[in-house]
Amino acid sequence: MNRILITSAIPYINGIKHLGNLVGSQLPADLYARYNRGRGREVMFICATDEHGTPAELAAAKAGQPVDEFCAEMHGVQAEIARGFRLSFDHFGRSSSARNQALTQHFAGKLAENGLIEEVVEQQVYSHADGRFLPDRYIEGTCPNCGYDKARGDQCENCTKQLDPTDLIDARSAVSGSTDLEVRETKHLYLRQSAMKDKLDAWISAKADWPVLTTSIAKKWLHDGDGLQDRGITRDLDWGVPVKKGDQDWPGMEGKVFYVWFDAPIEYIAATAEWADANGKADADWQRWWRTDMGADDVKYVQFMGKDNVPFHTLSFPATIMGSNEPWKLVDYIKSFNYLNYDGGQFSTSQGRGVFMDQALEILPADYWRWWLLSHAPENSDSEFTWENFQQSVNKDLADVLGNFVSRVTKFCRSKFGEAVPDGAYGDSEVALIDELTPRIRAYEGHMEAMDVRKAANELRAIWVAGNEYLQSAAPWSVFKENPERAAGMIRLSLNLIRLYAVLSAPFIPDAAATLITAMNTDDAWPDDVSAAMDVLKPGHAFTVPDNLFSKIADEEREGWQARFSGVRD
Ligand code: MF3
Ligand code: ZN
Repeated sequence: MNRILITSAIPYINGIKHLGNLVGSQLPADLYARYNRGRGREVMFICATDEHGTPAELAAAKAGQPVDEFCAEMHGVQAEIARGFRLSFDHFGRSSSARNQALTQHFAGKLAENGLIEEVVEQQVYSHADGRFLPDRYIEGTCPNCGYDKARGDQCENCTKQLDPTDLIDARSAVSGSTDLEVRETKHLYLRQSAMKDKLDAWISAKADWPVLTTSIAKKWLHDGDGLQDRGITRDLDWGVPVKKGDQDWPGMEGKVFYVWFDAPIEYIAATAEWADANGKADADWQRWWRTDMGADDVKYVQFMGKDNVPFHTLSFPATIMGSNEPWKLVDYIKSFNYLNYDGGQFSTSQGRGVFMDQALEILPADYWRWWLLSHAPENSDSEFTWENFQQSVNKDLADVLGNFVSRVTKFCRSKFGEAVPDGAYGDSEVALIDELTPRIRAYEGHMEAMDVRKAANELRAIWVAGNEYLQSAAPWSVFKENPERAAGMIRLSLNLIRLYAVLSAPFIPDAAATLITAMNTDDAWPDDVSAAMDVLKPGHAFTVPDNLFSKIADEEREGWQARFSGVRD
């Protein structure tokens, strides 16, 4: 497949995300996007802000702003931080866009046409104190499944069970805290997921190569208890996509909006249309990524997300796509992540606990964070951020191994041979290194193709270490005195290694990689043939000594940050 469509779960608009959110979707998605671009594939990397629903309304109310203004502002803030982390989205859209509104209404219309929408008069929680219905996050209480006492009306954060507000025990209003609640009648639309259970089951069962984390969650919701439930896809709210059947009114549904989880994944498609609009492209240009009748059969579509998002992506969104009976692209692979914990507890947006994306960039550049987060991605289990571990990884991997190699080689060359690649032949030890690197690079590629993020990071680190060990034992600084030509061969190889490191490392640490490519005055073509790659920089090729790539984190700095981030954000 030479075209890769990549989507990251779209972050809620309601605030700045923490590092746990980042490593669970946007960052690994960016790694994969950059890797595939590096391999010369055509990539469409899409993200957006998830702007509807109760999280947005509650956050806007708290900020004392109209919700549309709040969303526009926060979209700008999140986009800026994403740039800071070098997240290379082709488009960072907004689920409140006109494109998403139209597509969401379109899908609902098709589902209704195909008999997959049921109109249900139901009981909803109404709050006298607040003068409104309390859907989703407007209501909190105890989870009937696990007993967690801060479960929200849409989902329990603790056990991931999808809930309806009336399921909660000891329910209270999240707006006012009032327990003066009453159950009232209101009409809503349900997506008949149960009618698609067998189709979904067969589809998931065929995904033998998907991560167990993904398929086990999907299977659990397909088979546990009463099996797949029909989902309410509308809400009594003002903010959201108005309920319509395509562009027709929906009798009896006036004043209601679609549920945020119905319109949010559709934004993956809509954001690609927004990309086309923003770049003066035609509809066919985005449709070739999404419509199998427009060429999307040739696309490999990969989604990245945290585990709490898996049910919506393995069941609800595919039900929307399949139920439309239109030739939309289904996801080919879902890469999901466990949680990253923070220093003995959980990262928490609501409690302001941990390090948030804006704060992280205030203290260190993106590459430092990218390297730690990706090399410790919570793939097979939850993982934990500690400041000691962060300091250690940065100092060792980035400063001592990679940074030090670059600095020793370039400075030594400048002082003995000048700022150009010296002329000297490769001997046995150089050939041996090339022989060692070849299978390592192939292994690295294998892990990247498989999206095994930690394994890829480990292999990359091993590739850096191999160069360091080579340099240490070759010791051109001692050989130079007796045999400058031999030392020249070693340095020529090492300068080529710097270029190789830049190319291979770019998906993880794009800024450092760009610095190296510029300093080496070269291109970033992928090393398909490692021997050839070790001969790209020819004798006489001019380069410059780059500035120090990475600074070590001192103990006092670490202690300072540890103290600063020990409490909660105000
Ligand atoms: N906003 C959700 C979250 O942060 C993710 C939405 S992903 C999408 O958990 F599928 F709905 F797009
Ligand atoms: Zn629970």
